[in-house]
Amino acid sequence: MEKFYVTTAIDYVNATPHIGHAYEKIAADIVARYHRMHGKDVFFMTGVDEHGSKVEKSAHDAGKTPRQFCDEMSAKFKLAWQKLNISYDHFIRTTDDYHEKAVQALFSKLLENGDIYKGTYSGLYCEGCEDFVRERDLDENGNCHNHLKPPKKVEEDNYFFRLTKYKEKIKSWLAKCPGAVRPEGRKREILRQLDDPDLTDFSVTRSRSSLTWGVPVPGAEDQVIYVWIDALSNYITGIGYPHDPEKFKRYWPADLHLIGKDINKFHSIYWPSMLMAAGIEVPRQVFAHGFITVNGQKISKSLGNVIDPVALVDQYGADAVRFYLFASTPFDNDGDFSENVFIDKVNAELANNVGNLLNRNMTLLDKYCNGIVPNCNPEHTLRSQANAIHVEVNKHMEELEFAKALDAILALSDEANKYFHDEQPWTLLKEGKQKEGEEVLYTCLEVLRRVAMNIYPFTPKLAADIWYQLGYDDDIAVIGDRKDDDFLDKIQPGLKVRNTGPVFKRIEAAEGCAKK
Ligand code: ME8
Ligand code: MG
Repeated sequence: MEKFYVTTAIDYVNATPHIGHAYEKIAADIVARYHRMHGKDVFFMTGVDEHGSKVEKSAHDAGKTPRQFCDEMSAKFKLAWQKLNISYDHFIRTTDDYHEKAVQALFSKLLENGDIYKGTYSGLYCEGCEDFVRERDLDENGNCHNHLKPPKKVEEDNYFFRLTKYKEKIKSWLAKCPGAVRPEGRKREILRQLDDPDLTDFSVTRSRSSLTWGVPVPGAEDQVIYVWIDALSNYITGIGYPHDPEKFKRYWPADLHLIGKDINKFHSIYWPSMLMAAGIEVPRQVFAHGFITVNGQKISKSLGNVIDPVALVDQYGADAVRFYLFASTPFDNDGDFSENVFIDKVNAELANNVGNLLNRNMTLLDKYCNGIVPNCNPEHTLRSQANAIHVEVNKHMEELEFAKALDAILALSDEANKYFHDEQPWTLLKEGKQKEGEEVLYTCLEVLRRVAMNIYPFTPKLAADIWYQLGYDDDIAVIGDRKDDDFLDKIQPGLKVRNTGPVFKRIEAAEGCAKK
């Protein structure tokens, strides 16, 4: 069975999850469900990044030990992903024992082969970025662009990673594997950074006097491994490097690292360089997605616009949230969340378009066909369109063009509603034109079956509910490991449908934002 290993960034636990974190985890879940459905052996990993000065400080401010604080915060992330139906196979915490040991093993290996060496670091460090910054990257007030706070002056004896040795190798990798960093615009950014002489060897440890909450450097008690080395390693330690070589061999290299655009340098330059230094294969693809804003503004605690995904799901359900975020935003671009637009879109598409199509057909099937799928074989372009939809959808899914995939599915459902409206099967059936009426219903059922299968990765519960109403007993999550041809004409005459009422309830007027 072909494998597919997909990862997300691991989130800092200094604050509770927000809708931007949720966006990325849902994206990875969509990819994971899509590939599982197509019969692949998927390993989907997500988790949290628990070390570093930022987390240590938040724990201190909360009056807790870092350990206590991290335990509580990771539980919050896990709960959020559970509510959103994120089907991860493993949730990694960088404080997990096996991970810490593996990071040390990797560090020792790079030290041994000379790609990590001792030196002195003198410069600036931004705690918000958990990154070393340059004078020229500061704004006119001397603040970091991203975090609007002044970086700290640092002068320490540290260990360095010999990045300069790998810059050309990274360039040849990108030339040889043009799809390795996507989207294209983000790859160009990486290529520009690689040509920047300021991109030099970087410090991979911090002195214990500036960072205590982290993995100790083996054999050097005064040094702590820099958070990014610790964090990036999760992608291999979580699948068994080096303690479970069989599992590691099974899933590595990652087929897809999903990350946000702000951390592309770490994933497309630092990470593959480290892997090359350790003699480990580089990932097949890094995809840097865009950012979600809220009502057009950057998500920020100080603006008070942090939307809690758990509150959102409790109010509107996981499917609505999952659907909206990907129906409205091209994945390589920034997108916006606003509650009114969200409600309108979800009502228009899930309740009206898809939901009504199902409901109208179920009602007529009950009334005129004893709730049984009629025995017919109508020839209609809509039916052929339905049976070809997966070709278009799969093409978009492979490219991570989620909005286009959803557009295609919704357009098909929309067509079917028009067809239903034009043919007026309720009149046909009432007037005794049983065969003509049944053919319309049958064609619509065919569309609904295709809609359910294709929309499943986005809205798993809705899809399973449609599937159930259509009369199927098998699990929609795994039907795809059969060949696509087997799906053709799968609407089986004689199947008893189950009209359990509207499959997606309209959201009525907003009752206040799900803000914290
Ligand atoms: O960077 N919209 O953690 P993090 C979309 N621990 N995505 C967003 C977002 C937004 N508004 N805000 C953040 C870290 N993200 C490191 C990662 S990986 C080895 C270590 C994304 O909590 C962000 O781009 O700051 C990143 O991919 C993820 O959420 C975690 O961000
Ligand atoms: Mg961040």
